[in-house]
Amino acid sequence: MAADLTIRVSMRATDPDIADAMKVMKAAFPPQYGEAWSAPQLSGMMSLPGSLLAIARLGDLPVGFALLRSIAGEAELLLLAVHPDHRGCSHGRRLLDRCMNEAEGSGAKAMFLEVRSGNPAIHLYSKAGFFQYNHRPDYYVGSNGERFDALSYKIMLGHD
Ligand SMILES: CC(C)(COP(=O)(O)OP(=O)(O)OC[C@H]1O[C@@H](n2cnc3c(N)ncnc32)[C@H](O)[C@@H]1OP(=O)(O)O)[C@@H](O)C(=O)NCCC(=O)NCCS
Repeated sequence: MAADLTIRVSMRATDPDIADAMKVMKAAFPPQYGEAWSAPQLSGMMSLPGSLLAIARLGDLPVGFALLRSIAGEAELLLLAVHPDHRGCSHGRRLLDRCMNEAEGSGAKAMFLEVRSGNPAIHLYSKAGFFQYNHRPDYYVGSNGERFDALSYKIMLGHD
C-alpha cells in the first residue's frame, strides 16, 4: 500500500532534516536559474528566530519541503520545492497551505514570496490566492551569469 503524505514542521531542524531537504533541493531546482540554496545557507537560516522548515515525506522518503520565516507580523516563504518524481499530486499545495496555517498561527497578517518570472510555481501561488505586487528586474543570477527578473507576491492572512 502506498504511504500517505506526512508534513512535519520544525523550528529546530536536525542535521537529518537538513539532509532530507537538500535531497529535494538538489533535484527540484534547475541549476541554470540560481534559485537553489546550499546546506550551509539552509542551516544558517534555520538558526535565526522565526524560521520554520516543513518537510513532506512518503513514509521515510522526503518528497518536498518549504522554508518559512515569520517575524514582526509578516511571514516570508523563502523556498518551496517538490521532487520532480512526485509533482502534480498536490504535495506543493499542501506544503503551501501548511505554511500559511503556521504563519497565521504565529500571528502573521500577511505572507510574501519572491519567484522567478516565468517559473511555473506562479500557477500554484495564484491558485492559492497570492497576488503580484512588485517586479524586481535582474534579481536572480543564473549559473552562467544570466539574470532573471523576480516577481513579488503577497497574500493577506486571517480575518480581523
Ligand atoms: C512549484 C512546485 C513546488 C509545485 O509542486 P507540485 O506538488 O507539483 O504542485 P501541486 O501538485 O500541489 O499543484 C498545485 C496547483 O498548482 C498547479 N501547478 C503546479 N505546477 C504547475 C505547472 N508547472 N504548470 C501549471 N500549473 C501548475 C497545479 O495544476 C495545481 O492546480 P490544481 O490544484 O488546480 O490542480 C514544483 O513544481 C517545484 O518544486 N518546482 C521547482 C522548485 C521551485 O521553483 N519552487 C518555487 C520557487 S521557491
